[in-house]
Amino acid sequence: MRNHWSGRLGFILAAVGSAVGLGNIWKFPYITGMNGGGAFVLVYLVAILACGLPILMAEFIVGRHAQKDVVGSFRELTPQSAFWKHLGWLNLAASFIILSYYGVVAGWTLDYLFKALCGAFAGQEPEAIAGMFGALVSDPVRQLISLTLFMGLCLLAVIGGIKDGIERWNKVLMPTLFVLLIVMAGYALTTSGATAGLKFMLYPDFSKLTINGVLEAIGHSFFTLSLAMGAMITYASYMDKKEPIYPVSIRIAFLDTLVAIIAGLAIFPIVFSVGMEPGAGPGLIFKTLPQVFATIPMGSILAVLFFILLAFAALSSAISLLEVLTAFMIDEKKFNRRKATIWMTIAVYLTGIPSALSYSLLAQVKPIKNMEILDSLDYLASNFMLPIGGLLIAIYAGHILEKKISRAEICEDGRSFLLIFNIWYFTIRYIAPVAVLLVFLTKIGIIKL
Ligand code: PFF
Repeated sequence: MRNHWSGRLGFILAAVGSAVGLGNIWKFPYITGMNGGGAFVLVYLVAILACGLPILMAEFIVGRHAQKDVVGSFRELTPQSAFWKHLGWLNLAASFIILSYYGVVAGWTLDYLFKALCGAFAGQEPEAIAGMFGALVSDPVRQLISLTLFMGLCLLAVIGGIKDGIERWNKVLMPTLFVLLIVMAGYALTTSGATAGLKFMLYPDFSKLTINGVLEAIGHSFFTLSLAMGAMITYASYMDKKEPIYPVSIRIAFLDTLVAIIAGLAIFPIVFSVGMEPGAGPGLIFKTLPQVFATIPMGSILAVLFFILLAFAALSSAISLLEVLTAFMIDEKKFNRRKATIWMTIAVYLTGIPSALSYSLLAQVKPIKNMEILDSLDYLASNFMLPIGGLLIAIYAGHILEKKISRAEICEDGRSFLLIFNIWYFTIRYIAPVAVLLVFLTKIGIIKL
């Protein structure tokens, strides 16, 4: 008998753990602010409903019906098709590559948590704090130590299995993350930057919204729900047949969006309160925010809370990718869980080493478009593997997979959710694939805006 989640809450927390990651905290708030605040949030909600949610449901249908790892699931559902039965390999490859470099970035959050715990930012000059990031990424030994630590944590969670490992860890990580986020947002809204922060995130300025912003919303709706990486298919394969797919999916998408919006409300007011400009990505998290923490009241405590939050978000996402690989070894290669987890962690760890050395010993190696190794891998995964994978999953669920399978999965007893099924079926056949295709063609420069 395949292992299952203990119940709906366990599954939702694990899936939300996968979805809520660095993308929610360092990307969403920023792209929102840059693209017209509330106007972008509205477009993003439409993108989630028209693209992210339908593909999330498609992945749940595939995984739950097949009850197998990501490679086995596609083979099981469409054994007769020489092309489609191999689709799982693309997802598997994406999860392997993404985890290898995400582990490095996540390692930085552990390093910064350590710095925050030691009070390293307090009383420092802004330049000195900004310089800490360069010092970290160009130090091969520290990079390897934090990568090792992070992958070690992932290993500990996944080796315990579904209920006693992943679910148990997420039941601690996720509620803690929510509480920390609310405490931080509560604090942020009492600072002098509250109005500016709220305006940046929520005031709808339609004049700032461009076609590019719309495509960015679609692309992000996709990444933020951990789609096309095998994570949601694998997690759904441990889902009980009795769980209704739609109510669970909408809750996951809602919580993921909520966390992203609250993250913006926690970050921007405090950045504006000291008169700094927000950015996105590593710069915002590892340079700007530590400088802010060094100057504001209770900054040292906030720094610790923030980096715990970030580390938890990264860990719960990474766990889901390691589970994709572990499940593959268990189902396809007949390894036991212990052996599968250990071998996959080692394989990802070794592959992650070049990324960890991207800005030090291997800084001269620039495989794609003159970018360092870590950035090249991110470019490859975000611009090619994920959009192509997502497009194929949408086509698969809408046009290849037998309709009676998806209908049975969504309408448990044959009657409930029939309307939802019909809406989903239309969206996954005609809307989601076109939306993802547009994003992909724009990303690779075929459509120029
Ligand atoms: N949903 C994640 C995010 O928004 O950050 C994307 C992700 C990245 C998932 C890396 C898993 C992972 F290891």
